[in-house]
Amino acid sequence: MATSEDIQTLILTTLDTQGAIENTDSLKTADGNAIPYLAVVGVLNSLASKEMITYTTIERDQFNLTQEGNEIADSGSHEAKVFNAVDPVNGIAIAELAKLLGASAKIGQGKAFKNKWIKKDGDKLVREVESIVDQTQLDALEIRNTGTHSKPATLKDLQARKHVEKVKLISYKVAKGPKFALKIEKQATDLTAEMLADGSWKTQTFKKYNFAGNPPEGGHLHPLMKVREEFRKIFFELGFEEMPTNKYVESSFWNFDALFQPQQHPARDAHDTFFLLDPATSSNFPDKEYVQRVKEVHSHGGYGSIGYGYDWKIEEAEKLLLRTHTTSVSSNMLYRLAQETKARGSFKPAKFFSIDRVYRNETVDATHLAEFHQVEGVIADKNLTLGDLIGFMEIFFEKMGVPNIKFKPAFNPYTEPSMEIFSWHPGLEKWVELGNSGMFRPEMLEAMGLDPDVRVIAWGLGLERPTMIKYGLDNIRELLGHKVDLDMIQSNPACRLDKKMGKELVGKDAVDA
Ligand SMILES: *[C@@H]1O[C@H](CO)[C@@H](O)[C@H](O)[C@H]1NC(C)=O
Ligand SMILES: *[C@@H]1O[C@H](CO)[C@@H](O)[C@H](O)[C@H]1NC(C)=O
Ligand SMILES: *[C@@H]1O[C@H](CO)[C@@H](O)[C@H](O)[C@H]1NC(C)=O
Repeated sequence: MATSEDIQTLILTTLDTQGAIENTDSLKTADGNAIPYLAVVGVLNSLASKEMITYTTIERDQFNLTQEGNEIADSGSHEAKVFNAVDPVNGIAIAELAKLLGASAKIGQGKAFKNKWIKKDGDKLVREVESIVDQTQLDALEIRNTGTHSKPATLKDLQARKHVEKVKLISYKVAKGPKFALKIEKQATDLTAEMLADGSWKTQTFKKYNFAGNPPEGGHLHPLMKVREEFRKIFFELGFEEMPTNKYVESSFWNFDALFQPQQHPARDAHDTFFLLDPATSSNFPDKEYVQRVKEVHSHGGYGSIGYGYDWKIEEAEKLLLRTHTTSVSSNMLYRLAQETKARGSFKPAKFFSIDRVYRNETVDATHLAEFHQVEGVIADKNLTLGDLIGFMEIFFEKMGVPNIKFKPAFNPYTEPSMEIFSWHPGLEKWVELGNSGMFRPEMLEAMGLDPDVRVIAWGLGLERPTMIKYGLDNIRELLGHKVDLDMIQSNPACRLDKKMGKELVGKDAVDA
């Protein structure tokens, strides 16, 4: 029995003398035996990892005799056995044949009748010919000797009769590798202090790292973040600047008052908004004059408005809350824009966007959570009109792959006019809502210090719905929360908004917008 060292030496010396090994099947041990396939693979892999050889796999089909096929090759077919058992002069009794040949008697008789070798004579079988040629045995022998048969039909027939089976033979073609040598140098697995001290590390060869194993667990982007990335790209392509949305806690002032949302508005109720308990308030406001202007426009009006006519209280504006919309960030940014305009002495148009989380005290169900993501865009420029908003919305939704949008007048506390945006859904044959939009009110913008001819158009939509549609999720709790399947997050593909996505976006889930 050849050891793997013997096989290694055989392969290396053969390569050395012949330059290459066309087929490892030709390799024979010193005593002339073939080398077991698995032993060859092991040695080849080991030599290849040291770059001493390269090899390619050769696959070919061979036909092997089954146990029954081998018996036929050795002692003849069933039908020949039957023929031989029939005495040339006296024939043989059928009952005796079964005793003599066992199972072969039954199988062989049929074939021998068909070949017209024998016939029935009363309860006896007698020969019909003097001699026979056992072609089946000859066929089996041919297959045994050559691994195949010259007549494909015969091969097929013998396979059907389970005398022959097809086997796959694997062997290898081997060539010298870049580090070919007759002897295997022992490779070090570790760099030791001694090697460094005596300098032997310079000539020592080292075993390569073997990184086989499970792929390391890395981080995976949540589907919401993948879709967010696609929305961000659209905004960046259109020249928008991302707003800093890292403040989840806001004062009621920025979330409501600065937006000209009255202090009695039902959205400012604990049933709709999460207020903070500790700290419950903040008096960290921008300049007092701005706060005073907000108080004034709420209580008595201004900038062409009669206001709400109630007693505005700073205490209400100081209440801290989890922001209910990212418009709190927009109001902050627009106030800064007004400050910059004043400092610079001239107005510069601005395009802002944000995509981040907001919080509402909602009853949780299959499509609602108490926190979700809002996509918001804001454009500030002089003399913008409703026509600009409509035109821009067409461009924006076209980029998302949603053509032919329509607008419906709506009411928002801080925009006037306001429009809901709809798209025709061919499957449902109805218009479904995509988002909300409007022009910020002068009571909000002029109180900030922006010129009366600076107009701001804004729009918003959710991030969850397009994500759920894109990734085929029906229940929002499969997307966020403790029921999320981590495998869903790890295995989901990257998101690409395309024309199809647009059509999906106005899919069935859009109905309950
Ligand atoms: C096929 O036959 C050959 C020669 O008898 C034998 O060495 C080999 O193991 C057989 N292969 C299979 C898969 O039976
Ligand atoms: C949310 O609203 C419910 C009533 O709809 C109320 O009972 C609950 O206290 C509110 N939660 C918070 C944290 O304000
Ligand atoms: C904006 O409109 C006003 C009033 O029609 C006009 O006086 C002003 O020049 C316009 N500004 C720009 C930048 O077009």
